[in-house]
Amino acid sequence: MMVWSWWELLSGGPVYDIPKGRKDGRRSKVEDTLIAPAPTFNASELVRVSGLRGFSAQDMVALSGGHTLGVARCLTFKNRLSDPVDPTMDSDFSKTLSKTCSGGDDAEQTFDMTRNHFDNFYFQALQRKSGVLFSDQTLYNNPITKSIVKGYAMNQAKFFLDFEQAMVKMSLLDVKEGSQGEVRADCRKIN
Ligand code: HEM
Repeated sequence: MMVWSWWELLSGGPVYDIPKGRKDGRRSKVEDTLIAPAPTFNASELVRVSGLRGFSAQDMVALSGGHTLGVARCLTFKNRLSDPVDPTMDSDFSKTLSKTCSGGDDAEQTFDMTRNHFDNFYFQALQRKSGVLFSDQTLYNNPITKSIVKGYAMNQAKFFLDFEQAMVKMSLLDVKEGSQGEVRADCRKIN
């Protein structure tokens, strides 16, 4: 049984309204996903790619905080473990990752200690050089994004506020084209 403290009941994570009515796109091309960031990107590349869509460095770091939930499979970070070992990673943590990967490419590693709780532990892990993806840890190696990570590691309420604002911004992406969009009959296909 899950037991909730009064604090968790009052503060179950970020809360925000997403504007409704955004249409489905009339274009669906695999090459469009190239604009999406990769787990091998460094902080400057992440800032640049997010900027193409109008997100600030702060938006991007806050959104990366989505990695407070869930897991990454070994195949998304195993390149950090050898030839050469990623020096930005804590040496004990690299043992943890290696142990996970002994279970194969699909073995799962949680991003932080609390995979089902929306909290700022992900940012605290980055401060301990214990980020799972290269693209997570790199946020602590660039001076601009590092100061944002530190702020969120210290102040969870600030993280929630910035996350809420960035998620609403994301929901408004392509809203102009949205008027030319459609309501798909099958959400996986253009009508
Ligand atoms: C900054 C760019 C990002 C990169 C490079 C990235 C990359 C990844 C990768 C490689 C995984 C592991 C996937 C797998 O093993 O199959 C993952 C998982 C995940 N990502 Fe991201 N991500 C990014 C941004 C985001 C954002 C903005 C959110 C949400 C706000 C998010 C939420 C998640 C969640 C919840 C998982 C865990 C999924 C699960 O447990 O099944 N990520 N991400």
